[in-house]
Parts: sequence; structure tokens; C-alpha cells
Amino acid sequence: MKALVAYESRSGTTKRTAEAVSWALSAKGHDVITRPVAEVGQDYLVGVDVVFLGTWVEGFLVVGVGPAKAMRRWVSGLKGLPGTPIAVFCTYALNPRGTLATLSSLLEIAGARVVAAQGFNRRQPTKDLDSFVQKALAAASPSS
Ligand SMILES: Cc1cc2nc3c(=O)[nH]c(=O)nc-3n(C[C@H](O)[C@H](O)[C@H](O)COP(=O)(O)O)c2cc1C
Repeated sequence: MKALVAYESRSGTTKRTAEAVSWALSAKGHDVITRPVAEVGQDYLVGVDVVFLGTWVEGFLVVGVGPAKAMRRWVSGLKGLPGTPIAVFCTYALNPRGTLATLSSLLEIAGARVVAAQGFNRRQPTKDLDSFVQKALAAASPSS
């Protein structure tokens, strides 16, 4: 499959998780492009079979917690994602709260099909990554 791994990272943790997703996909023989969302235009989404989209969690620990503002802006700028399977992930310090649900809703409004969602604690930013990737690939494959 052709995969896009796009991420919003402020201090490198989400980038590290994104790169681990990318390596896991490459190791399985998939064709992967990995970029920060700031470099990802609408054209990157054409012909892609599955997208992995990662953000850091931005908020005040108990209030206003959600996807990074830059990620929200990027999703708002999309001109539609017709049925594209997307696996969302985030990295967080204490508790991601509704981050993955909020990001999923924004993507679904744009037409995407969210197939997997996983939070990674910044202290263990690749824990359970293989099962997340496997689940996303299974749900995104044409036969599912
Ligand atoms: C301004 C700011 C706000 C944050 N707010 C939260 C928060 O509300 N909840 C949480 O669990 N982590 C919060 N974090 C922690 C980051 O989400 C976490 O460290 C993440 O792994 C950073 O990813 P990055 O290295 O890719 O930027 C915050 C970090 C910053 C800098």
C-alpha cells in the first residue's frame, strides 16, 4: 500500500513516533512518505491508500486539551478527504483526554474514515506501536 505519515511536532516526540510508524510500514514492504503537516499539501493525499496522522497534545492539562492548534488549522484547510482511511495518534505528557476524538471528528467532517486511534505517553513514545500499525493496515486494506 502507499502510505503517508504526517505529523505535527513541537519538540520532537511526535516526530519520533511518526518515524517509528514509518519504519514499521517500510519493514512490511509499504511505500511510505513521512512529512511534517506544514509541508503536506492536498496533493500529497491523492492516490494514498492509508494516512497516519499524529499530533502532540496541547492544552492546560484539565481544560482546553486537544490536538495541537497547528494540526487543527491544517485539518481545517483541507478541501475534503473522500473516504481516505486515516489512523490518528498523539503523544502526551499526562492525559490526552478528548484529543483523538476531536481530531477524528474534524477528519470525519472532511470526509475521512478514521480506522484506528492511539495515544502514546511521551515517556514511551513507541509502546504498542506495532499493534496500532497492524490494526490500521487491516482496517484500511481494500478487502476490509
Ligand atoms: C504548551 C504545551 C501544552 C501542553 N498541554 C498538554 C496537556 O494539556 N496535556 C498533556 O497530556 N500534555 C500536554 N503537553 C505535553 C505534550 O503534548 C507532550 O510533551 C508531547 O509529547 C509533545 O510532543 P512533541 O515533542 O512532538 O512536540 C503540552 C505541551 C506544551 C508545550
